[in-house]
Amino acid sequence: MHKDLEEILISTKELDAGIKKLGARISSDYKGRCVTLVGALKGCVLFMADLAKCITVDTRLDFMMLSSYSGAQSTGVVRIILDMKESIEGRDVIIVEDIVDSGLTMNFLLQNLKTRRPRSLEICTLLDKPSCRKANVPIKYTGFTIPNKFVVGYGLDYNEIYRNLPYVGVLKKSVIGKEGKNTCR
Ligand code: IMP
Ligand code: MG
Repeated sequence: MHKDLEEILISTKELDAGIKKLGARISSDYKGRCVTLVGALKGCVLFMADLAKCITVDTRLDFMMLSSYSGAQSTGVVRIILDMKESIEGRDVIIVEDIVDSGLTMNFLLQNLKTRRPRSLEICTLLDKPSCRKANVPIKYTGFTIPNKFVVGYGLDYNEIYRNLPYVGVLKKSVIGKEGKNTCR
């Protein structure tokens, strides 16, 4: 385990099993169709790569980059840093996120993508942290529901570090500093 972690919350093995289940559900729900995964960079990268490999229907991959956080605190402002390349009009779209916390980022993304008139639009998140929800977003596919702790690894970062860890762990409070004692923003 990385020295900055308090504990491993979701092991590599558990991630594998959870993502296989999500892939199987998506493959069955979209049978005979073509699905477009729209990943929210950068947190989605490890999850989306593994999820895509578990989907058996034809799959397009695209990405957006949004910004709403600096460090462990929300700025409350969501901005599009990078937009996707292809049009999603008429497509079956699934937004792929690393974590839904307050829901503000996802709500922004959802409303934005709706205006582009996809045929269908669903949300898939690796982690759901429902205790801090401010915007109610309809999540269709959830990998794991987690408690109100600041987690890193498997795509999730703290100040851009720890994304490469092959598991999800709880960051030590001493690493986050005083602001991290309560992660609700
Ligand atoms: P929300 O807008 O509060 O739902 O937060 C969404 C974004 O905040 C995620 O895509 C993450 O980048 C970041 N975030 C929220 N909680 C955590 C966490 O526990 N660890 C790392 N990043 C987090
Ligand atoms: Mg982040």
